[in-house]
This record gives sequence, structure tokens and C-alpha cells, in this order.
Amino acid sequence: MSLSPNPHLLSVAPMMDWTDRHFRYLVRQVSRGVLLYTEMVTDRAVLHGNRPRLLGFDPLEHPVALQLGGCDPALLAQAARVGEEWGYDEVNLNLGCPSERVQGGGFGACLMKEPDLVAECLAAMREAVGVPVTAKHRLGVDELEDYGYLARWVEKLAGVGVEVFIVHARKAWLKGLSPKENREIPELRYGWVYRLKQDFPHLRFVLNGGVRTLDEAAAHLAHVDGVMLGRAVYDDPFVLEHADARFYGLERQPARLEVARAMIRYTEAQVEQGVPLWAVARHLLNLFKNQRRGKLWRRLLSERANRAGATPEVLWEALEHIAAPELEAAAG
Ligand SMILES: Cc1cc2nc3c(=O)[nH]c(=O)nc-3n(C[C@H](O)[C@H](O)[C@H](O)COP(=O)(O)O)c2cc1C
Repeated sequence: MSLSPNPHLLSVAPMMDWTDRHFRYLVRQVSRGVLLYTEMVTDRAVLHGNRPRLLGFDPLEHPVALQLGGCDPALLAQAARVGEEWGYDEVNLNLGCPSERVQGGGFGACLMKEPDLVAECLAAMREAVGVPVTAKHRLGVDELEDYGYLARWVEKLAGVGVEVFIVHARKAWLKGLSPKENREIPELRYGWVYRLKQDFPHLRFVLNGGVRTLDEAAAHLAHVDGVMLGRAVYDDPFVLEHADARFYGLERQPARLEVARAMIRYTEAQVEQGVPLWAVARHLLNLFKNQRRGKLWRRLLSERANRAGATPEVLWEALEHIAAPELEAAAG
């Protein structure tokens, strides 16, 4: 039996500094179906920080999941409740981040050594909210790289009702590797995620790590319930160009120029509300990746949208340079 319907079929990974509300809005222009995740927000930040800034999002972003970081069941439960009140469709717990700051707080990947505490956290979060509570974790950490350990971990969390496991298919080295190296050096073992699905067919497994194209995602979907893409989408949001037609049965074909226009209009609205131009424009740099004049677009934005006093007009001007060939074709 598998859970249905399946919102986890395709998702975009939580990425600090990258998957803020502006980038998520951009991705949503490209795909209506894909599930979006926020950057990690700590439980304490949710409880004591500037909530509109940390949690605010556009209704168009749905379905969107809030990723929390923390290791205190009571605080995580409270933060999850706030997330639900703000309208998030899911609350996810980060059990995979190896950064020193996060380790210093005793959460993220180092929690993979503490399944009892993690189960307590997830149980408290589940009790606090009606939306799904999911876990995002690694295959293991440090010397704990053993399929048996991973299977017992899943069993433990399933025991408190967790039904969705997002598995970054490599372990994390907590000492000696930077977070960036920890996304590249430990070996990817997709077979372990496939095996989890075989061993726990009633649970939902989302495979993450190193997936670059929709063809690759489709191949994994023969073995697991969902695929999460991270860097590939940031590097080129149009990697999701055919996602709606191919995975969601939507007759939709986004075009880069249309998406660019929508994003410039969005930027204008944001700037009017006091958001700095670059906070949005920086996410648009890869919008014409691998396209004719894509490098020109990137350069124009980097040079002009990052200047003091720049207005969204510089984006319209950059787009004119990009759109010129299209206009010429239409005229000729
Ligand atoms: C810039 C950056 C920031 C990240 N921040 C987070 C985070 O906040 N929470 C998290 O669970 N994973 C984070 N990750 C890891 C991604 O969610 C994902 O697991 C990882 O990049 C592997 O997927 P990919 O190969 O498709 O990028 C981050 C990755 C990157 C590149």
C-alpha cells in the first residue's frame, strides 16, 4: 500500500541562502506541481525572530514545506505549530546538515546518532500539528554507515508515526569536511534508498542527492516514491521546464521570457514593499542558463542590479537585450 495522493513526487530541496521566498516564487513560475521547501529555520528563530521575514511567503508558492532545525521536542513542537499557523503544507525536520554551527547547536546531521531524541522530537511535532511532519536525513554519519543502522533508524521514526523520509543518499562526515564537501565527497548510494522502499513499502521515500535531470528523476521513480532536486534547480531553474507536463498531467509549457517578465513584475512589487532589488535579482542570474545571450543577461544583472540606487528598470533593460533575437525573428 502506498500513501496517496503523493505530493512528494518531485520537490526542490531546502537550501540555506538559496531557497528563500523569492527563489521559490521563481521556481513556481516554472512548475506548478513541484513541492517547495524553505531554507532551514531554527526553532528558536521561529519562536523569537522576525516572523514575517522568516516565515512569510506568497500564496502562489503552495505546496510549500517549512524546514525546521532544532533538537528540543518542546521548542520544535511550538515552532511547528507556528509554521502551521502561517499556512505551511508540511513541516520537515533537518537531520542532515553537517555545518559546524549546526553541530554546535546539537542538531542537523549529528542527530543521526541520537534516534531516541529524534523520535521524541518528531512525536512532539506530530502531536502539535495536523499537517504532515517529515524527516530529511543522511544514510548515516561518521562511522555509522551501515544499512542495518539506517533501517533501524527508519523503523524507530516510523514508530512515532513518521511516514515520509527524504534521504540524502550519502552519509555525512562531521569532522574534517565542510558542508560543501559533505555534499560531494561521501559516496552516493542510491541502492540503499531503493532498499529502504523494498523493506518498508508502506512508508514513502524521497531520494535526494546528485540528481541533475528529469530523466534521472524518472529513472529513480521506478524504485522510490519521490525525488528531490537541489543544486540542479538553482543552477538552472528550467531543468523543471517539462515537470508539469511530464509528472503532473498539466498542459503547461513555461517560456523563459514569460517567466522573466513575471519575475520582473514580482520584483517591482517587492521593491515597492522595501525589499532590496538585489535580494530578488540575485536569484534570476541563471534564468537564461545555456541560452544564447544567457551570459550577457547574467553579466548585466550582476553589474547593474547590485548597484546602490538601482531600480527594477535595469531588469527590463537587460531583458530587452535578451529578447532582441526573438523580436527580430518575429519581424523577419
Ligand atoms: C547552498 C546549499 C544550502 C543547503 N541548505 C540546506 C538546508 O538548509 N537544509 C537541508 O536539509 N539541506 C540543505 N542543503 C542540502 C540540500 O538540501 C540537498 O540535500 C543537497 O544539496 C543534495 O542534493 P542535490 O545534489 O540535488 O543538490 C543545502 C545545499 C546547498 C547547496
